[in-house]
Amino acid sequence: LPPCVTPPEPGLWMWVLCTMFFMGALPSPAEMSQGHISVVLLGATGDLAKKYLWQGLFQLYMDQVSSGHSFTFHGAALTALEPGQKMMFDVLKKLACPPDEAPDRCAVLKDQFLKLSQYHQLKTAENYTVLNREIEVLLRQEGLKEAGRIFYFSVPPFAYTEIARHINSSCRPPPGAWLRVVLEKPFGHDLESAQQLAAELTSFFREEEMYRVDHYLGKQAVAHILPFRDQNQEFLDPIWNRHHVERVEIVLKEVVDAKGRTSFYEQYGVIRDVLQNHLTEALMFLTMELPGNLSRTEEVLQCKLQALRSLRGLEKHSAVLGQYQAYASHVQEELKKGQDYVSTTPTFAGVLVQSDSLRWEGVPFLLTSGKALDERVGYVRVLFKNRAYCTQSETLRDAGHSQCKAKQIIFYIGHGALNTPAVLVSRNLFRPVMPKSSWREVVGQPELHVFGQPLSDYYVYSPVKERDAYSVLISNIYHGRKDFFITTENLLASWAFWTPLLNSISQQPPRLYPGGVENQNLLDFEMVSGELAFTAAEPVELLHPDRSMPSDFKTIQSKFRQSPLVSMWSEDLISQLASDVEKAANRAVAGSGQFHLALSGGSSPVALFQRLARHHYAFPWRHTHIWLVDERCVPLTDPESNFFSLHSHLLQSIRVPYFNVHPMPVHLNQRLCVEEDGGTELYAKEIAALVANSSFDLVLLGLGTDGHTASLFPDSEDGLEGTQAVVLTESPIKPHQRMSFSLSLINKARQVFVLVVGKGKHDITTQISRVGRQPRKWPISGVSPSSGQLVWYVDYEALLG
Ligand code: BG6
Repeated sequence: LPPCVTPPEPGLWMWVLCTMFFMGALPSPAEMSQGHISVVLLGATGDLAKKYLWQGLFQLYMDQVSSGHSFTFHGAALTALEPGQKMMFDVLKKLACPPDEAPDRCAVLKDQFLKLSQYHQLKTAENYTVLNREIEVLLRQEGLKEAGRIFYFSVPPFAYTEIARHINSSCRPPPGAWLRVVLEKPFGHDLESAQQLAAELTSFFREEEMYRVDHYLGKQAVAHILPFRDQNQEFLDPIWNRHHVERVEIVLKEVVDAKGRTSFYEQYGVIRDVLQNHLTEALMFLTMELPGNLSRTEEVLQCKLQALRSLRGLEKHSAVLGQYQAYASHVQEELKKGQDYVSTTPTFAGVLVQSDSLRWEGVPFLLTSGKALDERVGYVRVLFKNRAYCTQSETLRDAGHSQCKAKQIIFYIGHGALNTPAVLVSRNLFRPVMPKSSWREVVGQPELHVFGQPLSDYYVYSPVKERDAYSVLISNIYHGRKDFFITTENLLASWAFWTPLLNSISQQPPRLYPGGVENQNLLDFEMVSGELAFTAAEPVELLHPDRSMPSDFKTIQSKFRQSPLVSMWSEDLISQLASDVEKAANRAVAGSGQFHLALSGGSSPVALFQRLARHHYAFPWRHTHIWLVDERCVPLTDPESNFFSLHSHLLQSIRVPYFNVHPMPVHLNQRLCVEEDGGTELYAKEIAALVANSSFDLVLLGLGTDGHTASLFPDSEDGLEGTQAVVLTESPIKPHQRMSFSLSLINKARQVFVLVVGKGKHDITTQISRVGRQPRKWPISGVSPSSGQLVWYVDYEALLG
């Protein structure tokens, strides 16, 4: 090395070639003709750069120094030249040599790397023009052809647009050379903001120029999911589906809390911070169909997009949320908020995700992440169903191969008991094919247990060279591997999936947890009929200081408008109502062999539907006919449709024969609720044909705040007078057009139950309790079965406010 240690200026690259020659690493002239790459790191003195990016760039340099490309590295920030330079070189001097690198070679390369790095202040448009000129001058002086430029944005997103504008207007490489801009999350806050940011960026860069980073795609275990599936197709093909997979857990648990980051965290929370991106990406690798060829980026991305789009929409109850107790004080301190500031930002979330694809329908995917938990660990665990019954006693079963042991495949992302990325496959599944050059089999540590089994029950593989996620990604940027990054389409599809849940929980108070090991079982959760719930009851004193009953409850009269009244807290009321519906059903089936049940739409009955779907195994569904009391004039597949809601909350979970389900014919001749199409007559005829005397066994009604019931509204004639059974009506609120049972049809029923819940219904409940029969003013007051029974189910909140 001696003659080359100090570089002669300005022939920088001559000097680098010289040192390489002495190291025996001099590439051939053909190799050197690959051209020059300028890497610009914006935010060069920031946290991410200090912790990972410079080290990743150094690794790139070490790996590619003989590739035939030459490099320069330009750190940039807003700080003025001298202090910025000092800060940046303080970081560069501390760059570490990886354990698998020969120390001598590494030391020389580090020296070169430092010489090839410069600091720039990039603040004004002028600064960018100067940077561009400097790159051009350097290339000219060294006689180098330009291969491309990488601009790594390690800056907050509010700075993106301006930087993008400057790069686009003054730092684009000449034709023939590529431009790659690398962007760090957050990429928006919800679908709308992501769309806006994407639109801004698209006005400066082409899609193929943008590399949106999700560093989990660079984690070795995550990056190996697709290759693993590809290389083990022979074993996986028969079992990688809903018939064999019991459930999948995708988990990132952290011990750290949000202290020091609350200004970011308070706006984002754990779902946006981790689930929307890192865990969703891992989920996609598991659920997407395997493309024919993994090296075809476009195919990979398309399959991923398709998987994302086949996820079933999330609802409020798809998630359980928590917040570590000290979070409030961290926010108050750091954001200068008063003691009374209440934050609903979750720092823990468990979300049940389901796919509607044929392969995965019905398989629960549990995505979980949180701060201030008991351990730091990340993994993707696929747990298979086990059908075997083993006759021999446990002690006689062979180690690991017994069909009675759990069958699982785990992509261990890192930390935790193993403290290394790993792929584990239960020995009773198959011995996986793993690329020997990059993964090696691990043996030993038989005493270590992971996921309930000793390590010896698994084939375990860990990477030959452990690589930090950022150096994997930086290498992929260099190689132009776009499948390791998030495209605009994928990003927006992911936000489209998460945004409705985020909106629905924005005001929901998360369960408080103390943090660390003290959390005990407070955050354990379970799946119940497609929803998630904490397994342990909520510590009442934390969130609901006073849930005791008002003292005057025992005095509530048991009649409402001269009919029987059932009143309780809403949850008890719903279970009482569900059991009364079941009783009515059994009575009807015992009498006539059939039960004709007509159900209303809207939000109140949803809880009843869910209750019936979950708890009523003895319900005579096979003999039940389900009718709609009213319907909105939208297609049945529209989430606004009453039938759609009935289907999601009840029908899809019970076994009613298809021919017993009678949606209202609002959609005929490819149009909605047109009188000439005769939908109302059609439904009335169907009722007359199947329901004796058109007298339903049970009609379930609700009550609107304006006194409407079914879709019969005040100040209207439709359905309130006359004998027509089914009518078209107009609602004052959207969707305006409706189809509805008339009062005359309702009043023929043997039983009518009216369900009224929630504080919002208190005023109308009071009003209705005092008035006589005035259906034009309050359609509900016209409900009065001619020979049947009417029962009111009104919860305490509606009754007492
Ligand atoms: C980041 C999140 O994207 O990922 C952090 O913003 C989180 O909140 C981190 O701690 C986890 O990454 P890793 O690599 O430490 O598992």
